[in-house]
Amino acid sequence: MTKIYLPLLALTVSMSLPGEPATAIANPGARHAISLDGKWRTIVDPYENGYYDYRLQPSKDGYFRNAKPRDKSELIEYDFDSSPTLDVPGDWNSQRENLFFYEGTIWYRRSFDYQVRPGTRLILYFGAANYEAIVYLNGEKLGMHTGGFTPFAFEVTGKVRDKDNFVVVKVDNKRRRDGVPTVNTDWWNYGGLTRGVALIEAPETYIHDYFVQLKKGSQNTVAGWVKLNGPRAAQRVSVGIPEAGASVTVTTDVNGYATLNFPAQLTPWSPDNPKLYDVAITAETDVVHELIGFRTIEARGTEILLNGKPMFLRGVSVHEEAPFRAGRAFSVEDARTLLGWAKEMGCNFVRLAHYPHNENMIREADRMGVLVWSESPVYWTIDWENKDTFSNASNQVAESVARDKNRASIILWSVANETPVSAPRTAFLTKLVEQVRAQDPTRLLTAAMEHHSERATPEANPVVINDPLGAALDVLGCNEYLGWYDGMPDIADITTWTIAYRKPLIMSEFGADALYGLHGDAMARFTEEYQENVFQHQVKMLGRVPNLRGSTPWVLMDFRSPRRSLPGIQDYFNLKGLVSLHGEKKKAFFVMQEFYRSKQAN
Ligand code: GCU
Repeated sequence: MTKIYLPLLALTVSMSLPGEPATAIANPGARHAISLDGKWRTIVDPYENGYYDYRLQPSKDGYFRNAKPRDKSELIEYDFDSSPTLDVPGDWNSQRENLFFYEGTIWYRRSFDYQVRPGTRLILYFGAANYEAIVYLNGEKLGMHTGGFTPFAFEVTGKVRDKDNFVVVKVDNKRRRDGVPTVNTDWWNYGGLTRGVALIEAPETYIHDYFVQLKKGSQNTVAGWVKLNGPRAAQRVSVGIPEAGASVTVTTDVNGYATLNFPAQLTPWSPDNPKLYDVAITAETDVVHELIGFRTIEARGTEILLNGKPMFLRGVSVHEEAPFRAGRAFSVEDARTLLGWAKEMGCNFVRLAHYPHNENMIREADRMGVLVWSESPVYWTIDWENKDTFSNASNQVAESVARDKNRASIILWSVANETPVSAPRTAFLTKLVEQVRAQDPTRLLTAAMEHHSERATPEANPVVINDPLGAALDVLGCNEYLGWYDGMPDIADITTWTIAYRKPLIMSEFGADALYGLHGDAMARFTEEYQENVFQHQVKMLGRVPNLRGSTPWVLMDFRSPRRSLPGIQDYFNLKGLVSLHGEKKKAFFVMQEFYRSKQAN
């Protein structure tokens, strides 16, 4: 069966314009909504018995029927009401011991009552579900979504009744060769309804989406667009920033679309002053408020300029691992803890690896003044020549940009991590870059690439960054593990860097594993001293790297990985964190803190 990844259009509610990716409704947090978070009844179904019949044909009497025997003789071999629960949002692997390694299908069911109000549109919204979700309401299939890290939604107006509604979701996190990501990753394949679920109310014609940012290259012109969804598509819509006394009124066209462009004297958003403005978008039939920061970001030669000023991105890479408890992070508290530790290290920037993190993380970065590198899960060696894989990747990227396009903190879109150089790969990624540029002309494009060494000798280790993908990017990212996978810590001292492009460079990964509290000499692997040793050589080397405008060492906090099984040391954790899962700072943390203190002083 050939899978066709239709851009969200067919599956969601919007009336998107040709070529413009549709989105799940923008800024759901600003809408009146009924949260469906909490305990959901679940059925673990490794053989997908609830979906297929014994001939592997989709069954018409699958678990989505949420059936009950009508009499003592009727045969029903499942029962949600007496099945165990799982918390939503949350991954299933960290909630139940026997699901720790589980990869496959789990059925989720949530019942709810709802006071139906005529003229109110209803949208069933999912923050994310890893990896593939098939969604049913009251036994009717609404649609499916692929990709574990972006939101999706379905219009359910007229499908919800006052009493005994039930949403059933088949979530399958099986890894696939043609998937994005593909079958091997160095992070845990946490499955489930990993982010919040809500029933969102909206007027008959509502404000479906908007893009409100400073015009590219301008510090005092706001530009963007607004899009309505509904029968009264052509309306007068005003976009205002009351605190700045600036606004514009536009008239949407037959598709509910209008561009906007107006002057405004605004305090620029920056890490030192993360100024957010209340922006009011007021149509004749709907109004939405959004907190937006306004800043410019550009690459000029080898410089990265924030609000016109060159800057160094003092960063760290971060996985969406929940501090203290492990598992997929999702909450505001998780975000504040992780960003708080990064700020303690002296960071003004985080690389959120290797997939779009939850919206709480991005909005907290806006609020706390932390710049963000956001990345798509095109990781290692995916199926470059498979057109389904491309449309899957393209869709996930479009959804990610659509969700976060109004966030001041996000300055970089990364299309990939450590992908092997080949013509099909470079063509694939270059197409993604062009897609993102068309969708969002205001931000910078990057990718975490690899370098290669040339004729290393005991005296010299010349390395080059000349990946052909670099030609399509604004900012180069490079991962290197000098001193861990590549030689001993002091190899950094003899390493010289040649950059084939006159572009800014971010050293997007470097580091070493250390078990917090394990001490020994500086050449003993997995000790804090070895990790510290690697970082001491790294920060010295970074001072000599041409075009270096940022660094995001690997990684802020230890995180779970199925590839790390060393008993008594790793126990399925990647230990390259500069802090442990419990926020305990390893010796290398202070090496980076000192390095960033020196960067701030300069
Ligand atoms: C890679 C990769 C990370 C991984 C890290 C490591 O470079 O990008 O996802 O976790 O190295 O090996 O620790």
